[in-house]
Amino acid sequence: MNELIEKMTTRHAIRRFQKKQVDENLLQQILTAGLYAPSAGNNQYSRIVVCQDSEVNERLGRISRYMQFKGKDPKTISHSISAEQPSIQDDFTIMNGFYDAPTVLTIFTRDSQYSHDDAAMIGENILLAAHFLGLGACYVGRTGEVFATEYGQQLRRKWGIPEDMVAVCNIIIGYIDGPVPCSKPRKEGRIIRV
Ligand SMILES: Cc1cc2nc3c(=O)[nH]c(=O)nc-3n(C[C@H](O)[C@H](O)[C@H](O)COP(=O)(O)O)c2cc1C
Repeated sequence: MNELIEKMTTRHAIRRFQKKQVDENLLQQILTAGLYAPSAGNNQYSRIVVCQDSEVNERLGRISRYMQFKGKDPKTISHSISAEQPSIQDDFTIMNGFYDAPTVLTIFTRDSQYSHDDAAMIGENILLAAHFLGLGACYVGRTGEVFATEYGQQLRRKWGIPEDMVAVCNIIIGYIDGPVPCSKPRKEGRIIRV
């Protein structure tokens, strides 16, 4: 198998991080990978906000967790996402939906029919780049809801995000702590040859 493709099969969502901040040179490479993602019609309109302020990240991460469970009792939702790198759905004692990652990216795109596609392209490039460089990362959703809150709106204004942009996803990045998960078996029948 091609070396890069083989490497892609060993990427896993990482949710336990060491305290140390991501090396700036590695971060720049990861962001470059994000910028080189395709965009619909080459619009290149997206913005990647890099936040390394632990207070802001924790506050956003708590809102993100709240958005996951709002109106429901977490204990009634049984999930088994990752034993080695538990998610907020595996371990209800985790209060920060950004898992104390030292670097949190928020991807904003222009509100259009392709906004989620553009953001997901960037997100995947970033996840893979982080993995290739030996770092851990995880895609976190619910970002639109998080940035629709009063605090999210405040941050949007502070960060100078244009009005016509939507917050689509977060990518959290850091040095891996704890065991690295094994590959999850892939379900059969997902390739349909016609
Ligand atoms: C659209 C999307 C949203 C996700 N949202 C979250 C999330 O909110 N919290 C989280 O811990 N992981 C989230 N994940 C990560 C998935 O849980 C993870 O990719 C999945 O369990 C498969 O594991 P793997 O990435 O190790 O293959 C998300 C992934 C995707 C693609």
